[in-house]
Amino acid sequence: MSEPSSSTASSTSTAPAACAATAPAPTAMVRSTKTVLITGASGGIGLHLAECFARDGHHVVVVARSTPQLEALAAVLRHRFGVPVTVITADLAQPGAAAQLHAAVQAQGLTLDALVNNAGYGVFGEFRNSALDAELAMMQLNMAALVSLSKLFLPDLLARRGQLLNVASTAAFQPGPYMAVYFATKAFVLSFTEAIAAELEGTGVHVMALCPGPTASGFQDKAAMQASALVQGKRLPSAESVAVDGYAALQRGKCVHITGTLNWLMAQSVRFTPRRVVTAIVKMQSRPTGH
Ligand SMILES: NC(=O)c1ccc[n+]([C@@H]2O[C@H](COP(=O)([O-])OP(=O)(O)OC[C@H]3O[C@@H](n4cnc5c(N)ncnc54)[C@H](OP(=O)(O)O)[C@@H]3O)[C@@H](O)[C@H]2O)c1
Repeated sequence: MSEPSSSTASSTSTAPAACAATAPAPTAMVRSTKTVLITGASGGIGLHLAECFARDGHHVVVVARSTPQLEALAAVLRHRFGVPVTVITADLAQPGAAAQLHAAVQAQGLTLDALVNNAGYGVFGEFRNSALDAELAMMQLNMAALVSLSKLFLPDLLARRGQLLNVASTAAFQPGPYMAVYFATKAFVLSFTEAIAAELEGTGVHVMALCPGPTASGFQDKAAMQASALVQGKRLPSAESVAVDGYAALQRGKCVHITGTLNWLMAQSVRFTPRRVVTAIVKMQSRPTGH
């Protein structure tokens, strides 16, 4: 991958900044005491998680591939919340990208109080026809980069008694015909996150897996799943509502948080249903329309 590139704006003024979007741009910024890094912050759930942390005064490090979207978000966060924002462009589907990102953050002299592994995407379609390259890159992003960043930044989180938020999915709770590899990556994220949460008990580091159900974001286009009965014709919750709900759960100290009561009920119901039946139901729910 190309070296991650970054930009930051901050100052040491203690003057509080206006929070309203319509307020004039603050002339100086508040030096925040906590720093969070959020992957996949250029859109969707990650963008709104960045807003939540900024609202609480964090210095926000936003990471994704789309520099213009990140710079636009950074300008909004500085303007609305008066916090420093660091933009780092990185393609985390490239092997080695996580280590380069970690080095870039260290080079800026930053220590993380919170890490949000949110970047991820899905691949929709029958496994026999889907593109292997896209699936392997997805596995690299959804799993390998998440594990690498968790390990590399854990010393920071231990030193700061910080927070680790991994974005899984309700897809984590059962197999997913027509998105077989994606569902498996999210089962991995959930299992990994619960395991290290248990290991880290008593250290002061809080670990949470956020499990949203289908959410309106760039995800559906990227996964080319407009044809899936899972989302077609459905009114999905907004990425903002999912992020706000997930952020509140993180602050409450939850370990696994499923967004939405119906999603929670469905995730519980699979525990008492034969897996073959569960898989058949998901197959029916996810099928490409016309099948
Ligand atoms: N939307 C849903 O229905 C849903 C449901 C459950 C869980 N989730 C999970 O929620 C997380 C966020 O998804 P979303 O719904 O907000 O989707 P989204 O709107 O497509 O956002 C995905 C984010 O990940 C970034 N990203 C994608 N590939 C990347 C790469 N190679 N390197 C670095 N960043 C990359 C994207 O930025 P760039 O394109 O600029 O790189 C974007 O910021 C994902 O982990 C997803 O699996 C989503």
